[in-house]
Amino acid sequence: MTATWGNIERQARLWMVEAGDRIKTALTEEVVISEKSGPDDLVTEVDQDIEAFFYEKISEAYPTHHFFGEEGVAQVLSSLEGTVWIVDPIDGTTNFIHQKRGFAISVAVYQGGEGMIGLIYDVMNEEFFHALKGEGAYLNDRLLPKVEQTSLSKAVVGINAGWLVGEHAAALTEVVRTSRGSRSYGSAALEMAYVATNRLNAYMSLNLSPWDYAAGAVILAEVGCKATRLDGTPLSMLEKGSLLASSSNLHEEIRRHLT
Ligand code: IPD
Ligand code: CA
Ligand code: CA
Ligand code: CA
Repeated sequence: MTATWGNIERQARLWMVEAGDRIKTALTEEVVISEKSGPDDLVTEVDQDIEAFFYEKISEAYPTHHFFGEEGVAQVLSSLEGTVWIVDPIDGTTNFIHQKRGFAISVAVYQGGEGMIGLIYDVMNEEFFHALKGEGAYLNDRLLPKVEQTSLSKAVVGINAGWLVGEHAAALTEVVRTSRGSRSYGSAALEMAYVATNRLNAYMSLNLSPWDYAAGAVILAEVGCKATRLDGTPLSMLEKGSLLASSSNLHEEIRRHLT
């Protein structure tokens, strides 16, 4: 029998809760940390173990599905044909290491490039943001309403402060200056989930990878939000790039400041 999307979603959520328990246990022990491209780009054995956990579970339960994750447990993917799982085992590794909170597991399932399942689990707060395409988005058991439309002057905007220096600073600073306030949480997946729950009104980044936003994009679509590149073009689930996530009117207003 072929599994339905609902069954796959329920199974994935069970794995994520199990993975969350493993992460909580790992936090009680010493965590081995290494640098990837530099001192601001870290990975731990826990990131790698959790990605391997998902790869093993998915390969065993769904051998025809493909896997795309941050830590390179599986081969790099060059096509979105078929069913593809896009996994960030710990989004917010710096928070995981320094604060021991404020990180999430992000899992998405795409079919032929279309987002079918989006799951973001804030492990330490036990907040599970989840969506099945066309069936609404939830925070734990609560169905999320469509997000409120708001103007930038009344909006709280999520942005990593690091983007407010450097070559694109002028336009982004203008957005932040016009907004009611800005926040930096250190987990792109959680910041997208916060846009879906009206805790933030927008989230912007100049450089993210598909595993950072694949699940968030599915959840945001279910609450009437847009998630695109900063110039309004569609996100790629294979290539890195910028992100602007917000309700549709605010998305337009922010883009006017950026062009
Ligand atoms: C990072 C977080 C962070 C964002 C970075 C991402 P990671 O993901 O989402 O908030 O600013 O660009 O790389 O490496 O912790 O999974
Ligand atoms: Ca990383
Ligand atoms: Ca990430
Ligand atoms: Ca990660």
